[in-house]
Amino acid sequence: MSIERTLSIVKPDGVGRNLIGEVYRRFEQVGLKVVAARMMRLSQAEAEGFYAVHRERPFFKDLVRFMISGPVMVQVLEGENAIAKNREVMGATDPKKADKGTIRADLATSIDENIVHGSDAKDTAAREIAYFFRDIELCPRTR
Ligand code: CMP
Repeated sequence: MSIERTLSIVKPDGVGRNLIGEVYRRFEQVGLKVVAARMMRLSQAEAEGFYAVHRERPFFKDLVRFMISGPVMVQVLEGENAIAKNREVMGATDPKKADKGTIRADLATSIDENIVHGSDAKDTAAREIAYFFRDIELCPRTR
């Protein structure tokens, strides 16, 4: 067990459907603590840069178009095994394959509009956190 940080985004569908509080409630229920947060409207270049690893995938254009379609809520979550824990709470990328009780199974409508993003590994988490936040903007809560 170790204290980790991970990057989370409530996507435009989650913000648009007024589900920020519901998503945060689920994070807090499993002990994930918000240590930084910002609402923002991503530019095309910002969304493309964030999802650069998917640049060659067939869904890239639609993904970027969706991510810039409205405001997103970006947060850093901290806690024991935060990266895996956040992925558990989110459920599988495709809501149809996600376990009942997860954010995506309960709230998402499709793989394209799946409410939340979360970092998938330690190196990705470090890169994604640094993409949106400076160290000074993070408020440690468990160390
Ligand atoms: P996210 O975790 O934000 O990472 C990339 C996003 O691309 C993913 O969630 C989905 O919303 C979207 N996406 C659309 N089609 C696919 C696919 N076939 N595989 C993975 N991600 C997809």
